[in-house]
Amino acid sequence: MTIKYQEELSLAVQAARKAGRLINNKLYRHQVTETKSCLSDLVTEVDREAESCIVQLLKQHFPGHAIIGEEQQGNCTGEPGGNMTWYVDPLDGTTNFVFGVPFCAVSIALAEDGVPVLGVVHDPLREETFTALQGGGARLNGSTINVDKTIATLEHSLLVTGYPGNIANRPRMHQVNYTQVLDCCNNLRALGSAALELAYVAGGRLTGFWEVALRPWDVAAGMVLVQEADGTVSNLAGQPLQLAEDVDIVATNGLIHQELLTCLTG
Ligand code: IPD
Ligand code: CA
Ligand code: CA
Repeated sequence: MTIKYQEELSLAVQAARKAGRLINNKLYRHQVTETKSCLSDLVTEVDREAESCIVQLLKQHFPGHAIIGEEQQGNCTGEPGGNMTWYVDPLDGTTNFVFGVPFCAVSIALAEDGVPVLGVVHDPLREETFTALQGGGARLNGSTINVDKTIATLEHSLLVTGYPGNIANRPRMHQVNYTQVLDCCNNLRALGSAALELAYVAGGRLTGFWEVALRPWDVAAGMVLVQEADGTVSNLAGQPLQLAEDVDIVATNGLIHQELLTCLTG
């Protein structure tokens, strides 16, 4: 089978690493912190500079593609209406970045007719680049990765979740039974970067992830990573995930998927 989008992947990696250098240089040194939708929804000059740098490279090489970036408020640049769309989160984990917690990532995905086919999640602080192409497997710095298939039950699972940046979405977080999950799993983390958490599920470091009220640029790249690493991705009802405006996601090693869904919605 021919694996498509190799050229797009190498450009996306180049763009993610370039943005990553900006992030690295400004960790503990950024100057501007502003709020967006509410007090806990933060943005810095680094988010904006990193996004401009990525968008510029993508536009230059793929002028016919649409680009949806977080800092353009989800507005499309490039060529709207085509079947190829890039989803860019230039700095996933802004709150960590602002507070000086070294856990954040650059996330870039390409979707064909709404289906993510390419994912890059780059951790600039550890120089770890997670990549995946539909049908081509998932890699970390070039080496194949897979979800952890040695764990088949929640009681043995290390899970991860996140808390919506926009406080208006916090009540939705309580619609899932996370206290029940906490009682059933080995333990639960919240590391503050959905994209990197998904990459960690793909790499077998974490067994499963869920979060409500995410945006498409938070999950598009990580979705491809988990699927290509032989994991399972769905919405809370267990159906295939759509890249909608507002995304509820469950992503696991596959073996614990149903048990986690039942626990979350029970
Ligand atoms: C946030 C991170 C965080 C998640 C929030 C997101 P941002 O993205 O992914 O882990 O819990 O819901 O908004 O704002 O840092 O790009
Ligand atoms: Ca994000
Ligand atoms: Ca972001």
